[in-house]
Amino acid sequence: MSLFDDLEGVYAEAARALEATADAAGLEAWYAAYLSRKGAVTLQTRVVGQLPKEERPAFGQRVNEIKAALESAYAARAGQIKQAELTRALESGAVDVTLPGRPVTEGHLHLTTQSLRQIYAIFARMGFEVYEAPDVELEAYNFDLLNIPAYHPARDMWDTFWVQTPPHEARLLLRTHTSPGQIRAMRERSANQEPLRVILPGKCYRYEQITARSEHQFYQVEGLAVGRGITLTDLIGTLHQFANLFYGAGRKIRVRGSYFPFTEPSIEVDTNCILCGGKGCGVCKYTGWLEIAGAGMVHPVVLENGGYDPAEWSGFAFGMGVERPSMMKYDVSDIRLYYGNDLRFLRQF
Ligand code: PHE
Repeated sequence: MSLFDDLEGVYAEAARALEATADAAGLEAWYAAYLSRKGAVTLQTRVVGQLPKEERPAFGQRVNEIKAALESAYAARAGQIKQAELTRALESGAVDVTLPGRPVTEGHLHLTTQSLRQIYAIFARMGFEVYEAPDVELEAYNFDLLNIPAYHPARDMWDTFWVQTPPHEARLLLRTHTSPGQIRAMRERSANQEPLRVILPGKCYRYEQITARSEHQFYQVEGLAVGRGITLTDLIGTLHQFANLFYGAGRKIRVRGSYFPFTEPSIEVDTNCILCGGKGCGVCKYTGWLEIAGAGMVHPVVLENGGYDPAEWSGFAFGMGVERPSMMKYDVSDIRLYYGNDLRFLRQF
């Protein structure tokens, strides 16, 4: 056997072994065994010295050919193995497209927002526009211009969160009711001496103890209509219509005399209980009636502050809560649930 035969034998063995490699580790071991510095093929270059001079160039050339051929065969095999491993990995971690999917949980509007939108829709039918006024309000709009000067005992009706302001500047507060929007809406419309019919929804804030029936932040919807010849009957009719559309047909209205500094006369309006129909139950606290709004005819001083001459113009105003009517409609027993962010509650509506 010549050294040439040995060389071809090593080549054939290396080629076979390469074919047999199955993974990255096998490939690495193969490379170490044949092509590394101490590999069987590489070592053939040392054999040259044992050959007669004239055979050396041919032998060296053949070794180089074999090395180059094995290098490229190695690269090709490495590519195949990588591809096979990738396929295997994909198959083992494959997604089973026949499995049922996980449904994406869908959110929905908060109960308060739903109730607000119901209220907007009802008043839109009666021709009321939605007018927005700021949550942070000037003391003058929240009180003075509504006929509640600083010394007025009625200020105690609204425990106030004051906003810190530097001395000598107009004082700011978180509005305690939506009534300051009356002045803003009137001042905008009275510029052209036009009648107006608006509702003013918004959050109100009161520095109060939180209980099952009262939160220190809550929504109100204010209503205001100013025109020539508007009467108390229009007000009562509007609220009667509201009660029937919000709570369902067959609602009666009851009016009680009351007091607000910005209305004269002032009334409180009740509707017969939606649950018991007037017989008496837990929701109406066995009175048969539910209060739906504080209301009245806009006080002449307030009309004037809004830019309307009370000799020519008249108007009615009402203010209603949003959470409490919604509590009655959906039989919710605790107002704190509205802002507690408990999904078990929120998901029910
Ligand atoms: N602003 C009053 C309150 O918060 C309600 C009200 C509004 C009464 C408009 C009369 C007219 O209690």
